[in-house]
Amino acid sequence: MSPIPTINLPTRRKNLVQRFFAWMTAHRGNWYENLTAVRKQALFGGLQGSILELGPGTGPNLRYYPPGVRWTGVEPNEFMHPYLLQSLRALNLPLDAFEITQGDPQGIRLPAQDASLDAVVCTLVLCSVPDPAGTLGEIIRVLKPGGKFIFIEHVAAAPATRLRRSQDFFQPFWTTIGDGCHPNRDTETSIQRAGFGRVEIDRFLVPAAGITEPHIAGLAEKRNL
Ligand SMILES: C[S@@+](CC[C@H](N)C(=O)[O-])C[C@H]1O[C@@H](n2cnc3c(N)ncnc32)[C@H](O)[C@@H]1O
Repeated sequence: MSPIPTINLPTRRKNLVQRFFAWMTAHRGNWYENLTAVRKQALFGGLQGSILELGPGTGPNLRYYPPGVRWTGVEPNEFMHPYLLQSLRALNLPLDAFEITQGDPQGIRLPAQDASLDAVVCTLVLCSVPDPAGTLGEIIRVLKPGGKFIFIEHVAAAPATRLRRSQDFFQPFWTTIGDGCHPNRDTETSIQRAGFGRVEIDRFLVPAAGITEPHIAGLAEKRNL
């Protein structure tokens, strides 16, 4: 398979992109939340115990967690952290149960022991990680048997469609300005092949999201040994 084109930015410019991306995420308004809130309520409402959220961004998911969870947010973009703290405070969440970390600078290893977590949550993150199969393998490693991986992701459109051609065409530019985001990733297949037990996936469209309109939401459970 040919490598996916990406433009490597020098560190200073990468910092600027990350700062801008954090600001933009914080100011994107409620339209996306309004369109995904019902799915988030259904997927997050039953969670309990220890949860790791990968790439929580500015914290749009925090409001959906039930009381009593212990949460670790692995957010490599440090410019997101002040917004994340602001969201925690605005929601009056108990700060001793919520921890923010930048995680592994290589973005490979998750900061958790094997089989230690009840759930891992990702929304709009698998499009950006450097190695989706490796990240999914890490998610399986840190989940307890029966633990849940909860996700909402934008995904590649069906092959040979006009939308897919646009996703492929714009991908190098999109990945550069979107801090690593790939609009044409087949994340559904990656999740199906990752080695989970039960997998439930619901496909839906987010209107007005342009080339990121096609979405999936669902859960995947780590097999019981
Ligand atoms: C589009 S934002 C989504 C933020 C938030 N989850 C949401 O739903 O609004 C993508 C997030 O993934 C984070 N991210 C990118 N690569 C990552 C990695 N390797 N590990 C964890 N988070 C990552 C980015 O820093 C960013 O916060």
